[in-house]
Amino acid sequence: MSAQSRARVLFLLAGLIVIVSGLALTLSLQMLGSPQTGNAPPPIMSWLPLIVASLVILGIGWWLLGSCHQPEEDSAQRLRALLEAAPDACIVCRQDRTILMANDQAARLFGYESSLLRNQSIEKLVPNWLRGTDASGPNPSPTSTPSGSWRLGLDGNLVGRRRDGSEIPIEISVSPLEHAGQRYVVSFIRNISERKKLEDRVRHSQKLEAVGRLAGGVAHDFNNILTAIIGYSDLLMGSVPQGDPVRDGLLEIKKAGDRAAALTQQLLAFSRKQMLQPTVIDLNALIQETQKMLRRLIPEDIEMQLQLDPQTRPVRADAAQTQQVLLNLVLNARDAMPQGGKLTIQTANTDLSSSYARKHTEVRAGPYAVLSVSDTGCGMDEATQARVFEPFFTTKVQGKGTGLGLATVYGIVKQSGGHIEISSAPGQGSVFRVYLPIAEEAVPTVSLTSGLTRTPPGTETILVAEDEDALRGLVRRVLEEHGYAVLAGKDGEEALRLCRQHPGAVHLLLSDVIMPNMNGPRLAQEVKSLHPDVRVIFMSGYTDSTLVSRGVSQGEAYFLQKPFRTDTLIQLVREVLDRAPTR
Ligand SMILES: Nc1ncnc2c1ncn2[C@@H]1O[C@H](COP(=O)(O)OP(=O)(O)OP(=O)(O)O)[C@@H](O)[C@H]1O
Ligand SMILES: [Mg+2]
Repeated sequence: MSAQSRARVLFLLAGLIVIVSGLALTLSLQMLGSPQTGNAPPPIMSWLPLIVASLVILGIGWWLLGSCHQPEEDSAQRLRALLEAAPDACIVCRQDRTILMANDQAARLFGYESSLLRNQSIEKLVPNWLRGTDASGPNPSPTSTPSGSWRLGLDGNLVGRRRDGSEIPIEISVSPLEHAGQRYVVSFIRNISERKKLEDRVRHSQKLEAVGRLAGGVAHDFNNILTAIIGYSDLLMGSVPQGDPVRDGLLEIKKAGDRAAALTQQLLAFSRKQMLQPTVIDLNALIQETQKMLRRLIPEDIEMQLQLDPQTRPVRADAAQTQQVLLNLVLNARDAMPQGGKLTIQTANTDLSSSYARKHTEVRAGPYAVLSVSDTGCGMDEATQARVFEPFFTTKVQGKGTGLGLATVYGIVKQSGGHIEISSAPGQGSVFRVYLPIAEEAVPTVSLTSGLTRTPPGTETILVAEDEDALRGLVRRVLEEHGYAVLAGKDGEEALRLCRQHPGAVHLLLSDVIMPNMNGPRLAQEVKSLHPDVRVIFMSGYTDSTLVSRGVSQGEAYFLQKPFRTDTLIQLVREVLDRAPTR
């Protein structure tokens, strides 16, 4: 029976007792006061007004009692409805840490039915390793301070324990409540697993971004130095006769330079600063072309399977770099299966939804072609997966891996506007999925490397702008040796001055991209206004995206990646001079 019903019954009983005693009293007084009255009206008639009045009073009292309690009942129901409507889980605890009330969201969050939570200890929802810690620590249980006030108001990120024993990151706000002399703790709890994952992803890509900037800066300076080392050793070898021991020394210098250049190239790829030449590529054709080479790299106990969806749409990417991505992934898969296994290369079309893009902040929703490389090898735990794209992270023995393979893959994929995803677990193999954006329009491919092997001597005038002294000297020397007239400036301004002072024609501008005073693209504009037919070659080891967007890679100019070989320089110069002007 509720408190309200109890009050009504008591009131009724008390009322009846009062009425009955009143009647009994009146009756005895009447009998005492007029014992011989024979014609008095029957007593019941004279008491009627009194009885009616008493019943009316009883009725009003009954109604009042009912109506006084009604709002309380309503508000309790309203409170319950409010808690159920709250988006967060809510738990009300008594002072002894038992649960008085939990809404459905709380029950769902912790994997219980809400009736099962009632009267249980709150500790049930706290992982063992957190139990019993102080309220100032991560345990949300209330404690009293000596002064008797509640030591609560704890707001922080905690871990909750679900019924199946799994742990979930939660955010909890608790506040004390005193009602009818009882103390309670009201906790609002929110599952923050998704937010935590998103934060981790953002932190991870920021870390890679920062390492990339550092690597890119180092690679930029190294490229200039290496171009000089490789270039001068090339040049000197030309003047040392065959069989001379000096020649062997020069060859070793050049080989070491080439190795360093290859490493620098990987760092540049990771930092997304290498010059890509995106074209429209058919992933299936690219895989089939590369297949032969891949088979040679894979031992016989690894079965390689291609599952290529013929409907896979063409993507816009750099063909050679995409091949590099495939190669690095396949080599890793091979290394993960020392006892043999199965390697599968797959292609397919896919759509990355906007909800996927929201979870992976760096991804744009839309159509992609996906290239996956799966293996049945050793797999990776989560800690390894979190680090694989870092440059120089390797679990391979010294001398076996540099840890640059996946860093390069990451850089190339990101620079191509793509996305990479890993699914793996220890002993379960790994799948690397590379998403590349679908090509919207066909782009003509220009091959700059084809052409002459023996270059005829030049007669034209070439304006060179390069701030690195050794490199400028090398370029001047190589070009002059091949018959060209060279004007060489240490920056854009000096080169422009030389160009203005030169009385004859300037046929070609060979310029660094990033230089003090005036950068390459600005210089090219100025030179074109003086010599509209001038051809332009930019040389750089490092491309700034704003310069790229200003036309360095848009077909208005040719590009020479540093470090370059002197014969590549000579060939490209000849090829560009023989082409139609780039206006
Ligand atoms: N398919 C895979 N299965 C298991 N672990 C892998 C796989 N791919 C990469 N890894 C792990 O990621 C690490 C980094 O790979 P990454 O390709 O960057 O460098 P590496 O292979 O060690 O060296 P490098 O590629 O420079 O020769 C590897 O050392 C390995 O621990
Ligand atoms: Mg590797």
